[in-house]
Amino acid sequence: MNRPTAAFTMGNVQPEPSSPIILAENLTKVYAAGRLQVTAVREVSLAVERGEFVAIVGPSGSGKSTLFYLLGGLTQATKGRVVIDGVDFASLSDGERTRLRKHRIGFVFQKFNLLPTLSAMGNIEIAWAVSGRKEPLDLKYLDHLCDLLSIQGRLEHRPSELSGGEQQRVAIARALITRPAIVLADEPTGNLDTKSSDAVLQMLLRSNRELGQTTLMITHNPEAAQIASRILHMRDGEIVHEETGSRAGVAFPASGAALPGPGAALPAANTVPAAV
Ligand SMILES: Nc1ncnc2c1ncn2[C@@H]1O[C@H](COP(=O)(O)OP(=O)(O)OP(=O)(O)O)[C@@H](O)[C@H]1O
Ligand SMILES: [Mg+2]
Repeated sequence: MNRPTAAFTMGNVQPEPSSPIILAENLTKVYAAGRLQVTAVREVSLAVERGEFVAIVGPSGSGKSTLFYLLGGLTQATKGRVVIDGVDFASLSDGERTRLRKHRIGFVFQKFNLLPTLSAMGNIEIAWAVSGRKEPLDLKYLDHLCDLLSIQGRLEHRPSELSGGEQQRVAIARALITRPAIVLADEPTGNLDTKSSDAVLQMLLRSNRELGQTTLMITHNPEAAQIASRILHMRDGEIVHEETGSRAGVAFPASGAALPGPGAALPAANTVPAAV
């Protein structure tokens, strides 16, 4: 059974046919800090195909998070353009851009960005609520995610009552609950021990493979990056090198049932119907 596509229109914007799901052209971001100017991202061009798992690595300050913000439409490029599934961010109004983000992209932020007044469960539920899905929250899938991320016993806690690693895992559940077509994850294993880190990587990988998601993961961890089909190396705001992950395509040890849960139909990652 195919999952019904949630209603989503983007006014008169026509997607460019058969383009990569993420396309960046000559992206440059200059921050003005007082009289100083910092070029955080410099003339970056990249194309990510549907269903790819791409890792971005590089030293601290090399522009990884800035690229994440640009690709997610969370900050405006100084120069260049970002096209998501054929739609140029620059052609959208603020409202349309926000809707595209909420509907299509699951974000895992380096600093989690959980809402402090809501419980862990509330943070996950609100991601569903704002995504514009018509159907009710899939509790079976929520259960499954929380099991795999070992946060079942923490769902009633507020972020301030959670450890950094627990907050990170809640942030990952929040990003994945809507089964977004694109997952952008900034250091998703940054605060985790080896066991939790493996669980998160496995979760992202299975989500990528089984739901056909496109995943872009920023990481400091060279081991973690190896699960990606493509690893992009950043330095001083530029992509300077590209390689294939040595563990790409290698199966993680199976744990738990296939996503999204035993017996359930496997829905494809959300797609945007052609703009009307
Ligand atoms: N809002 C801002 N204003 C001014 N400069 C900024 C701002 N945000 C980032 N920068 C600068 O841009 C550069 C790139 O920062 P960015 O956060 O993208 O790096 P990063 O690769 O994600 O680093 P890390 O691995 O430490 O997270 C850095 O020199 C940083 O100081
Ligand atoms: Mg960063």
